[in-house]
Amino acid sequence: MTTVATGTAAPTSAVGTAHTRVEGRDKVTGAARYAGEIPFENLAHGWLALSTVARGRIRALETDTVLGMPGVLAVLDHRNAPRVTTDYTGLLGTPPDPTCAVFQHDRVPHLGWPVALVVAETSEQAREAAEALVVHYDQEPHDVGFKGDHPDAYPLDSHGPAVTGKGDLDAELAASAHVVDREFTTPEEHHSMMEPHAATARWEDGRLEVIDSNQGATWVVGELANLFSLDPASVRVRSEHVGGGFGSKGVRAHQVAAVMAATTLQRPVRVVLTRRQMFSLAGYRSPTTQRVRLGADADGRLRALEHRSLSMTSTVHEFIESSAGVARVMYDADAHHTANRVVRLDVPTPTWMRAPGEAPGSFALEAALDELAEECGIDPVELRLRNEPAKGPVSGLPFAGRNLPACLREGARRFGWADRDPRPGVRRDGRWLLGTGMAAASFGAGAAPSTATATAHPDGTFTVRIAAADIGTGARTALTLVAADALGVRPERVQVRIGDSDFGPAMIAGGSMGTRSWSWAITAAAGELRERLALGSDIPPEGITVRSDTTAAIGALAPAERHSYGAQFAEVAVDVTTGEVRVRRMLGIFAAGRIVNPLTARGQFLGGMIWGISMALHEEAVRDRATGGHVGADLAGYHVATHADVPHIEADWIDDTDPGDPVGIKGIGEIGIVGAAAAVANAVWHATGVRHRDLPIRPDRVL
Ligand code: MOS
Repeated sequence: MTTVATGTAAPTSAVGTAHTRVEGRDKVTGAARYAGEIPFENLAHGWLALSTVARGRIRALETDTVLGMPGVLAVLDHRNAPRVTTDYTGLLGTPPDPTCAVFQHDRVPHLGWPVALVVAETSEQAREAAEALVVHYDQEPHDVGFKGDHPDAYPLDSHGPAVTGKGDLDAELAASAHVVDREFTTPEEHHSMMEPHAATARWEDGRLEVIDSNQGATWVVGELANLFSLDPASVRVRSEHVGGGFGSKGVRAHQVAAVMAATTLQRPVRVVLTRRQMFSLAGYRSPTTQRVRLGADADGRLRALEHRSLSMTSTVHEFIESSAGVARVMYDADAHHTANRVVRLDVPTPTWMRAPGEAPGSFALEAALDELAEECGIDPVELRLRNEPAKGPVSGLPFAGRNLPACLREGARRFGWADRDPRPGVRRDGRWLLGTGMAAASFGAGAAPSTATATAHPDGTFTVRIAAADIGTGARTALTLVAADALGVRPERVQVRIGDSDFGPAMIAGGSMGTRSWSWAITAAAGELRERLALGSDIPPEGITVRSDTTAAIGALAPAERHSYGAQFAEVAVDVTTGEVRVRRMLGIFAAGRIVNPLTARGQFLGGMIWGISMALHEEAVRDRATGGHVGADLAGYHVATHADVPHIEADWIDDTDPGDPVGIKGIGEIGIVGAAAAVANAVWHATGVRHRDLPIRPDRVL
């Protein structure tokens, strides 16, 4: 036995210094295996057959023919698949989306709905058979037409009331020196992460094991245990490397189908989605129609603010894109009204995607503010500074650190905003019109209960285990730095293991809350372990392990408005002959709590800002009203920003900390996209003198 001294030779803080990804070498050499490529003995492959009608019933499936095809082992459909239950409330406090409970009935609620899983010896055999499967439908008329004045819209929200209001809006608008009343639209958008969804399910020693690509093993275990009426302890979900999630990687049809097939066949079964299948099975961001009404005094102070948003959901599950929520925390006014509404259509259920609510909401609100600045003749940065609220406009709660003014000032300084000529349409560089624009941003900073263990080994190294998910953000590396500091050792002595539900319940990689929630649990476990070791305990061969649970600590947080903030600045060039918009440079300055790893944090901020460019200029899923499906459901038809779209982009941050967090972390996952599309759109106006209130700002709309 040896005694390991910790703390005595404590290095300088690892948190705050740049570290390359601990799994970086594995990723670039291909040693890192993703869910769809981990080898298994006796592996069978499932392929989902999807409906070709948007609404109706399955009348018949010609499964006999398919069962005779080479390698085919089984066809699961609503007549023979295991039954599941959806009568429960999930981890996130909502009932499950019934669209993940596949093969339970003959109803088809949208185009691309799974009607069968064909299982075969190889993926190719399964695909060929699934594509040969003839399905007969009793088709019914469908409605996929999202429009702002849909008669069936109703109020809905996922956090708090759908409608908020104080003050007399009409009276304040009438008393305002300047009024802006505008409608904005954003299209249906898809996550389009690099790695498509994939899951392998198998039964081993009486336990269900699922190898998956997800944003939270705890979440997937909970849903699968509920769906299949299993003891959660008998379900293990592992998700070692994840090639992006963006909100889409929860529990979906493919995991459920894989579990059904593994159960039926009693052998491992893998189900991988194609890019095209993801368009109907992986969730998406609803289109929105938003109306923003602003009224201000001559000096730009807001008297009236109304933000109303409509989005769509499926006929089987309620999901709301709460775009009006951002107005509830950004600006106050004597009359302040917000409303989120939804309409049910014959479409797949949308889901969280890249700052759900805030991303489209900030486009409308921050573009409307730019129009108000123009009306008032006040600089857009100054207009925002004049409208800094003293407390939560709707909640009335104090702000726990609102560093938005510092972001605005630092961003303006770094961008060279002071030299800006406010007049639109007066700068030209050959065939390009040039303009600059800005927008403000905020995103909620939360933490959720998690558990972690920290183990001291006799050789002086440490292992930290937590069911975290690194969806490409660098979370594993950030957690290594946090653990090293909490243990008082160098990061090289700490191995952080993630992505395994057997490590105990933990927050998902979502809501920009992952790293903060996990760091809290790791800090608690590591801190207690360090105290134990300081007492001079001998370390047995199996090590000394301490487990933490942050439920009580996080529950004790005082209520406050906790957010990350940002200021986005963009310069664009607009080609007067083709209508093409190019972002020439972009700067984001953020106040997002303590930055754990500047290297990967910068990547996350830039990634968010590039999502914003993508949202402003490229992304748009087009639904064909006749079929109810997508036109161009692939990465050729659905455009996302790539390297060539982003010539010069910078992200930086100001000193900021969350005093309620043991490490000072707030969360940086989504703040980068908030306001980014508005900054680009506002710059396009400054270049051309024309407002674009419908995204994306396509060349045909510019001309
Ligand atoms: Mo994020 S949209 O909470 O994964």
